[in-house]
Formats: sequence, C-alpha cells, structure tokens
Amino acid sequence: MPTDQNNGHGDTVVAVKNLTKKFPDPMTGEEFVVLDSISLSVKKGNFASIVGPSGCGKSTLLNIIAGIETHDPSDGGTLDVYSHSDAAEPRVGYVFQNARLLNWLTVEDNMIFALESQGISKDLWKERVDKYLDMVGLEGQQKNYPLNLSGGMQQRVAIARALAIEPDILLMDEPFSHLDEITARKMRFDLMQILMDAKPTILFITHDLGEAVFLADNIYMMSTKPARIFKQIDVDVPRPRKPEDPEIFDLEKELVREFFSVLDAQLLEDG
Ligand SMILES: Nc1ncnc2c1ncn2[C@@H]1O[C@H](COP(=O)(O)OP(=O)(O)OP(=O)(O)O)[C@@H](O)[C@H]1O
Ligand SMILES: [Mg+2]
Repeated sequence: MPTDQNNGHGDTVVAVKNLTKKFPDPMTGEEFVVLDSISLSVKKGNFASIVGPSGCGKSTLLNIIAGIETHDPSDGGTLDVYSHSDAAEPRVGYVFQNARLLNWLTVEDNMIFALESQGISKDLWKERVDKYLDMVGLEGQQKNYPLNLSGGMQQRVAIARALAIEPDILLMDEPFSHLDEITARKMRFDLMQILMDAKPTILFITHDLGEAVFLADNIYMMSTKPARIFKQIDVDVPRPRKPEDPEIFDLEKELVREFFSVLDAQLLEDG
C-alpha cells in the first residue's frame, strides 16, 4: 500500500505520475506494457472518472492504487495516496463489479467487518452502519442477510460498507455494470445525491461514456494497448444533473468522437 502523510500536498489525495506497468505475456513469458506513463490526480471531494475500452488496463491501475497489484518502480513512475485524517495511513475504500459480501454475515456484520479491519473504534460502529445504510436507501436492513437482497441492494450494501470507513479515496470499478439498466440508472442518481450530501473523494472506472459524463467532475480518457491517457475533460455542469441535460449530452457526444478518432487511428496503425 503506497502511503504518505499529507505534508504540504494541499487537497491532493491521489497523485499518479508517469506510471508504467508491465505484465509477462502468459504464452511467451515476455513482458508487455499495459500502462504507459499514466499521470492523473484526484483532489479531495472530487469525483474523477477513467473511461476506456474493455481490457485496456483500468482495473490494473485501480488495483495498483489500492495496493492489491504491485508496481515495480523500475518500470517507471510514482504513485502517492495522501491521508487527510489523523490516520497514519490513507484509507482506501473499494467497490467492485460484484458486491463481494460475506453471505453468512448480516448486512450490519459485513459493515462491521470492514470497520474493524480498518481499526475504527467500536464506539463508532453503530452510528456508521446506520448512517451509511440510510445514505444508500437501505434503512432497516441491518439484520438481513445478503442472499435475501436483490443484486442492486447487495451493491448498495457494498457502497455503504466502503463509505462507512470514511475513506480518503473511494475506488469504484464499474460498480453498476452488472445491474440491469433501470437499476443502474437509479443507482447513478442515488450516487449523485451522495456526492452532493457527503462529498466523498472518488475515482470511478467505467466504459460507459454517458455514465462518466453524468457523474464526474474530471474524466480521463484511456486508449488501449498500451493504455495511455490521451485526453482529460472537465465537466463543469452543476449537480443535480440529468442524463438528458443538453450540456451532458453534448459532452457525451464529444467523448464518443474523441474515442473513435483515437481508436480508428490505432486500428489503422495495427493494419
Ligand atoms: N496478473 C496479470 N498477468 C498478466 N496479464 C494481466 C494480469 N492482469 C491483467 N492482465 C492483462 O492486462 C490487460 C489489462 O487488464 P485489466 O483487467 O486491467 O483491463 P480492464 O480495462 O479493467 O478491462 P475490463 O474493462 O474488461 O474490466 C489485459 O490484457 C489483461 O489480460
Ligand atoms: Mg476491469
């Protein structure tokens, strides 16, 4: 886990500079570059999004930031995550595509498991569980078990569990991609409300351009093979937003155009 105290880093929470990551090819064993000199930063209270095609390296980058995947400094680049609380190490929350709940524990105990493993004082557990279950619209579900909940409700528990540790950075890896579109749409609206109320700092990965524009303050556009950030776009549209707002819609069209020009150029290069 990359760590640092917040000594003079202002409102920066995540700083990735020229980060390169290589993996060995499973067939030949030869190393190939997955992430090529990636730079991005996430500021406190901001919602940053990375959009890129399937397989480009988005999860790899998020896993490196979370400390789940290694980064060999000799490949190049640096990564810093800064703590903005009294905690010595920055707190990192993670929401995956699947809820990944412990099915033999109640909703409340799933959350307590995370709170305890983050070393959060027992005095705060009940308050945190109740507060964040309310925030995701699951008040009263404390004693229920995950398998009695729909996929969307399970994902809400996963979000409540991640928010409850009050992370310096909340990493979200395509958290709505396994939900049906109607449920996903509702979840995006609810997440926007959470952004307005609690102002968490989020780095959110998606391949859904409309979702990125609807939710994010800053969008990093990633190409593939190897992954490079080829453009950054700021979304200066006040919340609450609607997907059909003309500004949102125009930005989505701009992203589509940008992606196709870059990916078409890559296809031509590849012959
Ligand atoms: N541990 C590993 N060893 C070797 N190659 C890997 C490893 N993990 C991922 N890769 C490769 O790195 C590339 C990027 O994978 P990654 O899962 O980060 O992409 P992604 O953008 O998250 O894709 P998706 O949108 O499908 O989730 C892929 O080519 C993948 O096969
Ligand atoms: Mg992925």
